[in-house]
Amino acid sequence: MPTEIDTSLSLCRLLEPEIAADPYHLYRELRESDPVFWDPFLHAWVVTRYADVVTVLQKFSADRTLSTEQLNNMGLGALAPIVEVMKLQMLFRDPPYHTRLRSVCANAFTPSRVAVLKSHIQEIVNGLINRCIAAGSADIVADIAAPMPAIVTAEMFGLPVEDHESLKKWSIDFAEILGNFQHNPDRVARVLESVYEMTSYFRAAIRRQATDPREGLVNALTTAAPDGTYLTEEEIIANCILTMIGGQETTTNLIGSGILTLLRHPDQLQLLLDDPSLLPSAVEELLRYESPIQHTARVAHEDINLGGKQIRRGQSVIAVIAAGNRDPERFDDPDRLDLTRENNRHLAFGWAAHFCFGAPLARIEGQIAFGALVQRLRNLELASDRLEWHENLGLRGLCALPVRFDPGPIVPVTYKLGFLKVGFLN
Ligand code: HEM
Repeated sequence: MPTEIDTSLSLCRLLEPEIAADPYHLYRELRESDPVFWDPFLHAWVVTRYADVVTVLQKFSADRTLSTEQLNNMGLGALAPIVEVMKLQMLFRDPPYHTRLRSVCANAFTPSRVAVLKSHIQEIVNGLINRCIAAGSADIVADIAAPMPAIVTAEMFGLPVEDHESLKKWSIDFAEILGNFQHNPDRVARVLESVYEMTSYFRAAIRRQATDPREGLVNALTTAAPDGTYLTEEEIIANCILTMIGGQETTTNLIGSGILTLLRHPDQLQLLLDDPSLLPSAVEELLRYESPIQHTARVAHEDINLGGKQIRRGQSVIAVIAAGNRDPERFDDPDRLDLTRENNRHLAFGWAAHFCFGAPLARIEGQIAFGALVQRLRNLELASDRLEWHENLGLRGLCALPVRFDPGPIVPVTYKLGFLKVGFLN
């Protein structure tokens, strides 16, 4: 008789709607009863304590994409073209390859570039909020949290801002692969199509740089020659795709989940309304409390003991960032939202070599968006009791967040973008 496997602690339970709505009970159970847990369904170790998550992100290998043979053996051969792109992305590589790619991308985030983006972000957010005020209602996700980072991403790359809707669509599709353990065949077909579209889009953008150079990430990647050699076109495309997605779904989810969290904690919302200087620490606390990236993965490059468990070379380890961020060994009263929290070195942007290099931009986007939303949409409240979370297990975010509010005044905006007509806003 086969022995029955205990499913109660498997991360697969994140697919259950009640667990998806609040995964923190499951994380607590894991942390308290088996902090380095062998998940029999995922064939991977699941690590939930803050200190162990740090160790995994510091010491384990990021080189974790599957070979074509492994994919075929798992019946996932259709994912091969996507995995070929991932193999060239810095997030899935170790030094020295990682260091070379990252240095070029990080160089494109010069303080002057981020300063230009910052002044635009305020205008973009104000324009989007004006539209909500004119309409008299809003879905925070669709109307603000989704378009804002897509527009910022287009600017950051030096791409036509009118393309932001395509960037958003591709980003949603690719995020399916990044954040899920299970891959449904219909979705795989859609993601493959998006990857082909993105690849030809970025190839054309790279080639345009030769005759029509525009400041931004595409240009920076095309003209940089780390170690005296230029990146190949395929490397540039793969890392444009990574950065484009890294910058969008995460920021969308920070704003959507963050506003929901504030609505569920009216005392904290009031604190922020009374004292906008709390915005930087509020963003850090919202990132800790509802981390947009819930977990990431690594591979053991040697046999290693972690938390008393023997992890074998080649075994996968899932580092549950969101569980580490609620670890009472690291944070006082971790399930309490405290926008004034000090010593808040959370894991939401990762740790060590792969620490998110978009963090300064994400922080600015968060501060501007939360500041403007709470000040301008007065008496904000939820307009629906039913909240649906994306099925994506790794990237935690709401499908929609309908709200009611008392409209504040429309503010003038000069930022020009297709639907953000200056006349309409005045
Ligand atoms: C709230 C917003 C964001 C969150 C929560 C977030 C979170 C993260 C995390 C946890 C990692 C590390 C993953 C790992 O170690 O496996 C990461 C890496 C990365 N992020 Fe972000 N991110 C955000 C915004 C951004 C933005 C705005 C950009 C682009 C401008 C970006 C681009 C990247 C890239 C390219 C990497 C890979 C870095 C590397 O491998 O060295 N992210 N991010």
